[in-house]
Amino acid sequence: MSTHIGAEHGQIASHVLMPGDPLRARWIAETFLEDPQQYNDVRGMLGYTGTYKGVRISAQGSGMGQPSMAIYAQELFEQYDVQTIIRVGTCGGVSDAVKVRDVVLGVAASTDSAMNRSRFGNVTFAPAADFDLLRIAADVAEERTMPLAAGGLFSSDQFYNPDREIVPNLARYGILGVEMEAAALYTLGAQFGRRALSICTVSDHLLTGEETSALERQESFSDMMELALETIVRLEQKPRTR
Ligand code: HPA
Repeated sequence: MSTHIGAEHGQIASHVLMPGDPLRARWIAETFLEDPQQYNDVRGMLGYTGTYKGVRISAQGSGMGQPSMAIYAQELFEQYDVQTIIRVGTCGGVSDAVKVRDVVLGVAASTDSAMNRSRFGNVTFAPAADFDLLRIAADVAEERTMPLAAGGLFSSDQFYNPDREIVPNLARYGILGVEMEAAALYTLGAQFGRRALSICTVSDHLLTGEETSALERQESFSDMMELALETIVRLEQKPRTR
């Protein structure tokens, strides 16, 4: 047991999908995993382990925001020996290069959070995705002709940011979407030498005001989950580059 996860060692798989919403973790387990077993309900942050195409995979909620993500990612990496975390979430589109329902692979995550300033002082650390996960996910998406974009995310601490200038400025620098967790996940992946990737479907668009209906969100979520699951299956099959 760790401080925030009530699982015994061995109950959590080497590969974990992390939605922000714990009820999404349940939905992933019930929809995609064979023989799912719930291993956590501490603070309602549900976690399940099952198999997908013969590969053992867990689905664990992260909660919203970097502090919450950092607690769960650290305990998964450090105390349960997790090797791969793929965040599966939503982001707000901030660029003309993406539209709602697109899937965004987060190559790197800029942030307004103070978390890395307290780790690195004067140095601005650049939280980045694992390259193998990134290229496998891009291959799978291309084969499936999924509407895909790959680029920078903005991991914001504020969902309701009163500053209206930030988003257009970030878009000018090629940032594709705003969400709230990727930078912490990438930083912890780097700290523990494990693989991390954030995949987001664009749920709403901050420049155009476009939104997805509940049904559209569900469909694009299913596509994104299959992309994440298939990425893990291929990672298991291919010889490791590290
Ligand atoms: N901001 C932050 N996180 C998000 C958003 C947003 O606009 N949309 C989906 N996740």
